[in-house]
Amino acid sequence: MEPLAVGEAVKRVIVALDPARRGDVDRLLDMAKQVCGVGAGIKVGLPMLALGGSEALAEAARLCKGGGLRVLDLKLADIGYIMRLAAESLSRGFDAAIAHAFVGYEGGLVELKKALEDLGARLVLVVSMSHPGSGEVLDPCLDKLLAVARRVEPWGVVAPATRPEVVARVRETLPTTVIMSPGVGAQGGRPGDAICLGGADYEIVGRMVASSPDPVSALRGVAEYIAARCPEKLLHSSTGNGPS
Ligand code: XMP
Repeated sequence: MEPLAVGEAVKRVIVALDPARRGDVDRLLDMAKQVCGVGAGIKVGLPMLALGGSEALAEAARLCKGGGLRVLDLKLADIGYIMRLAAESLSRGFDAAIAHAFVGYEGGLVELKKALEDLGARLVLVVSMSHPGSGEVLDPCLDKLLAVARRVEPWGVVAPATRPEVVARVRETLPTTVIMSPGVGAQGGRPGDAICLGGADYEIVGRMVASSPDPVSALRGVAEYIAARCPEKLLHSSTGNGPS
């Protein structure tokens, strides 16, 4: 039997399914079904939309229904009216959708949040990113981005697993908001950096799992690593909004 902490850890890992070419789309949709039954859920975004069309997004959401969180990552950054149109046409069937916090509240995120709520989905805001360039503009503005997040009151925020100290700062400012952290594996973050060191609720892992010949084993491997690092952090979600 799987140790308790590994069982908890695997429910903290969201798998990003990003096809690099058209031929990957069906393989990743098959994977959606497999990993949704095991992990915390899936995230799909622009690569899936570009290579598989809106049908592939809808299919990913359908295949994962009842099996975990379905996150749509278009990183929306437009006026509220346009973000609402995008949400209305693409986010049906998803549990959450990601937008940039820098768009701001008035005429922007307040409208998107309402549109998502009407669709039964939740808003997740990017307040910092996992790549080094986040240090050029976003991170010097972190306090302002967190102030936007405090005003918008999204269900979740995205903060980088590659910089757990930023995740910890976000956690301190937003103690009850779900934190999702990408950047594990291919971008250099170690499994557990965001959850164990920063207090994130979920880690998002893409290529490290999706490129593996055995994605479910790779997902369990990530969970085992997290569980070995901080079993005590896994018993309860820090926010009460995380996995049940
Ligand atoms: P890899 O293959 O690098 O995939 O594990 C990472 C996934 O996460 C997304 N990503 C981000 N999303 N803010 C976000 O909202 C970020 O800082 C960020 N960094 C990576 C990326 O789109 C991919 O799906």
